[in-house]
Amino acid sequence: MLRTAFTGLTGCRVPIQLAPMPVVSLELATAVAEAGGLAMFSGLRSSAAYLVDMLDKVASRTGARAGVNFIIRFLDTETVKAVAPRASVVEFFYGDPDRMLVELAHAGGALACWHVGSREEAAAAERAGCDLIAAQGIEAGGHVRGSVGLFPLLGEVLDAVRIPVIASGGVGTARSMAAALAAGAAAVRIGTRFLAAREADAHPAYVEALIRARAEDTILTETFSVNWPDAPHRVLRSCVDAAKSFSGAMVGEGAIGGSKYPVPRFAPPTPNRATVGEISAMALYAGHSVDAVRRVQPAAEIVRELSEGAERLLRAWAT
Ligand SMILES: Cc1cc2nc3c(=O)[nH]c(=O)nc-3n(C[C@H](O)[C@H](O)[C@H](O)COP(=O)(O)O)c2cc1C
Repeated sequence: MLRTAFTGLTGCRVPIQLAPMPVVSLELATAVAEAGGLAMFSGLRSSAAYLVDMLDKVASRTGARAGVNFIIRFLDTETVKAVAPRASVVEFFYGDPDRMLVELAHAGGALACWHVGSREEAAAAERAGCDLIAAQGIEAGGHVRGSVGLFPLLGEVLDAVRIPVIASGGVGTARSMAAALAAGAAAVRIGTRFLAAREADAHPAYVEALIRARAEDTILTETFSVNWPDAPHRVLRSCVDAAKSFSGAMVGEGAIGGSKYPVPRFAPPTPNRATVGEISAMALYAGHSVDAVRRVQPAAEIVRELSEGAERLLRAWAT
């Protein structure tokens, strides 16, 4: 068993955090929690009632609490207040660390985490009272906060803070998980790899594109910036090309929890199973870890492959 400051703090059995992504379904969160990892939901486009229901269902199915992530630009503090009493971790991304938000998480009994992209932001998160941070390298899929690769960033951040650090970005194999833990991270955060979990809600055409792609097929861009400008993100290069050559203002229609919304060309929403339209021209987020996406697998198998493989490697290096 890999025991770290993260497993001690969160009560998880393995030092793996499911990245909060809008395509995290109840089934994916449940599978990751059952496998011993920290399940996370995205607070984007989700009502407080929906998130509370998800958290309660994961807790009743697994006996473990899940967490929720909020993007500062789209944050509603009432939703933070509603989820904090039921969440293991309340986490924030893409905004300066804010003591008031950390206190809201603590007031409900949750741990507070900030997903950061630099040493300065990490130190500010610790000063704001966070219990842990996720440090994101530019290899990450999705929106990217900083401008440094994961390992140089870990080196800087681990020297700057005393709270546990989750390594985020480009980690998709047992080898890279072992490397992050050996470097001093207390856990790894896995996004792209879980997009191809059997239980994920990612659109099948998106998953197929991930399976075909290599790390060099991803690009850091600001292409999908409608309603969220000045926020670089890593996607498959193919979707940038497809969006640029698409003619028309709308690429399709998305749906979450029964409510539908139009998806304009160059808009950030990820296609889920209910999305219709030109999927190839929507934001197909992918990290350098896409290299490790070879097939659709049960989430529990991904957790086992990473955690048991990392443990074997760390043991072998130590002897
Ligand atoms: C489809 C997708 C959506 C994401 N949405 C969020 C989000 O809402 N909040 C957040 O903090 N990070 C988000 N991320 C970034 C992840 O938290 C994490 O940094 C990244 O997935 C790690 O790199 P990896 O994809 O190589 O595993 C997203 C990533 C992906 C792939």
